Amino acid sequence: MKTIVLSLGGSVLVPSLESNTIQRYREALIDISRECALYVVIGGGGEARRYIAAARKLGIDEAFSDELGIAVTRLNAALLIGALGDAAYPKIATNYEEARMFSGQGRIVVMGGVTPAQTTDAVSAVLAESVHADVMINATSVDGIYSADPKKVPDARRFEHLTRDELLRIIIGSRLDAGANTVIDIVAAKVIQRSGIPLVVIDGRDPETLKTAVLQGTFSGTVVSETDRNPLSISGDGRR
Ligand code: UTP
Repeated sequence: MKTIVLSLGGSVLVPSLESNTIQRYREALIDISRECALYVVIGGGGEARRYIAAARKLGIDEAFSDELGIAVTRLNAALLIGALGDAAYPKIATNYEEARMFSGQGRIVVMGGVTPAQTTDAVSAVLAESVHADVMINATSVDGIYSADPKKVPDARRFEHLTRDELLRIIIGSRLDAGANTVIDIVAAKVIQRSGIPLVVIDGRDPETLKTAVLQGTFSGTVVSETDRNPLSISGDGRR
């Protein structure tokens, strides 16, 4: 059975509280958890950024602002745990040891942020190392890693495949302020580099994309690995 760590952006799970995709993600995650050991790390999305912006206006320092961001990620994580019911371990893992302890019996382990100066992508990368995951998936609001922000630069090019060093080179130079918004933060990129666990970046706005990627091995997005094998291949040849 494959072990998967899913970094699920707050911006795709809870674009707003009123228009969340939790109901649809519940079905997809439960279906996936029947076939795979599944850990889900939830981001804070726009709500976290709003809290961080408010904190900055009040002159609150970056570390404290990060703690506010972490609180929002955990609020989103709690909402998902509630929605998953018996399919999830009923408590948010607040560190990697807890995440390992909460796994087993086919239950989905859910967590949010852990510590300042990173994003939940870094949490996911460390968690992937910690649970010896076969693959880390980042389901986000773009369909892969681009040469520039595709929302701002119309002719930005999507990478189908990157090596770990290439990923790190692309990420270096991006900022690490609270609420900073790049596809993967630099801490995550460095952990991915050292662990060698393949990363798949896909569009998470439609949960079906994730389900098809995991259960059928087909997707369009960016794969970060040292080989050209599909890390989500269901035939097993993509395993590390
Ligand atoms: P996210 O992981 O949600 O950042 O954490 P993001 O890149 O905005 O991701 P999306 O939009 O959900 O996809 C939100 C903020 O919470 C703080 C950081 O300030 C981050 O920008 N945070 C989160 C931490 O400081 N540490 C963590 O472990 C997680």
